[in-house]
Amino acid sequence: MTAVSLSTSTAAALRADAVVVAVAKGPKGLVLAPGAETVDEAFEGRLAEVLTTVGATGTAGEAVKVPAAAGLKAPLVLAVGLGEAAEDGYQAEALRSAAGVAARTLHGSKKAAFALPVTDAASVEAVTLGALLGAYTFTACRSDNGKADAKTPLVEVSLTGVKRGDKAAKAAVERATVVAEEMNRARDLVNMPPNDLFPKSFAEIATAIGKEQGLKVEVLDEKALTKGGFGGILGVGVGSDRGPRLVKVAYTHPKAKASLAFVGKGITYDSGGISLKPAGHNETMKCDMAGAGAVFASVLAVAKLGLPVNVTGWLALAENMPSGSATRPGDVLRMYGGKTVEVLNTDAEGRLVLADAIVRAGEDKPSHIVDVATLTGAMVMALGSRTFGVMANDDAFRSTVTELAEAAGEPAWAMPLPAHLRGPMDSSVADISNMGERMGGGLVAGLFLKEFVADGITWAHLDIAGPAFHEGAPFGYTPKGGTATAVRTLVALAEHAADGKL
Ligand code: BES
Ligand code: MN
Ligand code: ZN
Repeated sequence: MTAVSLSTSTAAALRADAVVVAVAKGPKGLVLAPGAETVDEAFEGRLAEVLTTVGATGTAGEAVKVPAAAGLKAPLVLAVGLGEAAEDGYQAEALRSAAGVAARTLHGSKKAAFALPVTDAASVEAVTLGALLGAYTFTACRSDNGKADAKTPLVEVSLTGVKRGDKAAKAAVERATVVAEEMNRARDLVNMPPNDLFPKSFAEIATAIGKEQGLKVEVLDEKALTKGGFGGILGVGVGSDRGPRLVKVAYTHPKAKASLAFVGKGITYDSGGISLKPAGHNETMKCDMAGAGAVFASVLAVAKLGLPVNVTGWLALAENMPSGSATRPGDVLRMYGGKTVEVLNTDAEGRLVLADAIVRAGEDKPSHIVDVATLTGAMVMALGSRTFGVMANDDAFRSTVTELAEAAGEPAWAMPLPAHLRGPMDSSVADISNMGERMGGGLVAGLFLKEFVADGITWAHLDIAGPAFHEGAPFGYTPKGGTATAVRTLVALAEHAADGKL
């Protein structure tokens, strides 16, 4: 991954491939954001004018390049837009996005000097995170590792404008580096093609990386799942030649303030099963393990940050395929814990693997369970492709999770669990069916999961089907493909718990 460091030299004096400044929309046109002073001096105070001449306006998302003036050690100046000019400091998300645009624009270059408005530790953290996320590329499947189309990430980013020995700034770079490393890991897992990432290979990765970071990792394979009675995970995985797994990754701290469980939907490919998805609905379904990817990455991040909290991640891994051995619509599954479910649609598979994992997670008696899942197309309909839905069995916890998500830069919205949607899930043969009313399908799925949460446990459900996988043109620090959504929310929740606030 790209390395971010703090530099005490001026932006003008740094040897780099490009020096990055930020610009904003002032009342009378483009203005330079703080941090650009020494660069502007090299332009004899005319940098704003030069940038305006070539069409820059300061709009968010904008990236404009001009050749450097004499006196700058870098040959190129890149100006990125922050949006409306702010008198009293820029919002973290504006800084993250601008830094992301800069790093993305500089794919193929080696070193950049960032002369951005880093006025405090929070802005240092935002710029670092944005740069590291924007620099990300996924080239593992290119025969030349992306060299030909200049898709190689920046090697080095130097942040200028921070005082020598600023400990808070140094800590901010370190925290952002951990979070970015783990978010980029979650993105890699989502972007890996489903012929490479399947339950067994995912479990092997989790075991190797988890152990490396000192986590306790346990893998239940098909035999162990059968012995344990995990009918949901087995029922979904039984149609695939690649058997399912349930992976537990545990981080513990001797001075833990709380114990949390994170449960991730890990469908490494969702074909729909016998209720097969039509063409046009299955091309991106390698992303259906994004919940498990986010859970795994966030447990690693919590461990690297050494937070005083216990966090257990559960990865419910299966491949949903149609075959002669696949679960049929009409089959009844006996779930972990004994409840029976009539499967009326094999494409509503996420709730089946999650139900088993939520029951198992509950046995360890965490105070809170948060599950993360690309669960329903209905949630994408409701909230669009950049916001995830938050449901819970406790209103205060739902607000806490939603607010932490927003503050961390992950758009989230609280959704209800209306009791009247439970009735239509009644089955004529089993305890419950996996289908309910079509309208409000995201809430129906949430109500199904709620049935599997043990009494006394506070639970929230994040339906990330919209933001998990970005299909449009890259924006800010978000590339095409896996986004790592929910990682920052889970880490923020663990920090909240470590602060004794849960
Ligand atoms: N993995 C899908 C949901 C999904 C849709 C994720 C779009 C990402 C983008 C899930 O397993 C699914 O197929 N859900 C069905 C449920 C229905 C059969 C009740 C859906 O949303 O159509
Ligand atoms: Mn499905
Ligand atoms: Zn699915």
